[in-house]
Amino acid sequence: MNVVGNSALHMLLAQAAVLHLDRHSILHPAAPQAGHIEWLYWFIFWILLAVFVLMIGAFSRAAGKTRVAVSHPLPVMEKDEIADRRAGWGVGLATGITVITLFVVLVFSVITGKRVEGLTSKDPVTIQITGHQWWWEVTYPNPQADQTVTTANEIHVPVGTPVVVLTSSKDVIHSFWAPNITGKRDLLPGYSSAFWFEIEKPGIYHGQCAEFCGLQHAHMGFSIVAEPVDEFKAWEQQQLKIAAEPSTSEAVRGREVFLTHACLMCHTIRGTDAGSRLGPDLTHVASRNMIAAETLPNTAGALAGWIVDPQRIKPGTAMSPNPLAPDDLQAVVAYLQSLH
Ligand code: CUA
Repeated sequence: MNVVGNSALHMLLAQAAVLHLDRHSILHPAAPQAGHIEWLYWFIFWILLAVFVLMIGAFSRAAGKTRVAVSHPLPVMEKDEIADRRAGWGVGLATGITVITLFVVLVFSVITGKRVEGLTSKDPVTIQITGHQWWWEVTYPNPQADQTVTTANEIHVPVGTPVVVLTSSKDVIHSFWAPNITGKRDLLPGYSSAFWFEIEKPGIYHGQCAEFCGLQHAHMGFSIVAEPVDEFKAWEQQQLKIAAEPSTSEAVRGREVFLTHACLMCHTIRGTDAGSRLGPDLTHVASRNMIAAETLPNTAGALAGWIVDPQRIKPGTAMSPNPLAPDDLQAVVAYLQSLH
């Protein structure tokens, strides 16, 4: 019996790991900001548990008492008066305790909000995150244009360094939510705001749009890759480079196909004629783990399927179908996979 129970538990845990439930939870904080929120979660949880136990206790007591009262009947008038007086005190006391409890929760919620927002560190890394239907544009602004990194959906940050995130949206309201890192932040069109976090543990933390923003709201994921400072710097240096020259004849042909079809109407590949900012910057697309805002793994098969018929995978997405000849499709995929 125990063995069966254990294996079932293991299967459940394995499934949770596959679904990354362990990575996508406010109960596994990786930043002090998420730590404050977890603390508030447990504070409210224990209050609610105490209220639950008290309520069940009171109900049981009341149910037991009714039977006793029936076996020792009092004169009707006297019984009613005593019951009324007692009920009055009981309701007053319960209301008082409820108001005080809610007030305490309110105070601690405000304190937690202040703790999450308070920026105490210096020399932050600044990232501009812009919401699009349905992907995240990520830039690391620099006064020199050629020193500005632009990527999509995969946000690299150094650990142990404050990260200031500037937000905006190109279309509707989105909400940036990485539960292991910090609370939800709305991205509002025409309005820029800022928040910050600092990640303590290296790792990949999943995030999700948390404000309904249209048909593909559920397919608007992102990830935060927190890595040691030197690895982050190396990543940044790589991202600053223009696109690599294709090294195979197939990839050369793929670039040709990319630049002579609809691709260049929406995408940028720095170092080529493709310079539109409507869709994600693809200069280093091969360096990312996922495509289409964490919808598909970044593999040759997924890339090919996405290029040919994105509307089937993410109906309503801004990218139009590209019915390429098989050879052309294979060449484009080979080219994109060479863009590290
Ligand atoms: Cu963007 Cu929901």
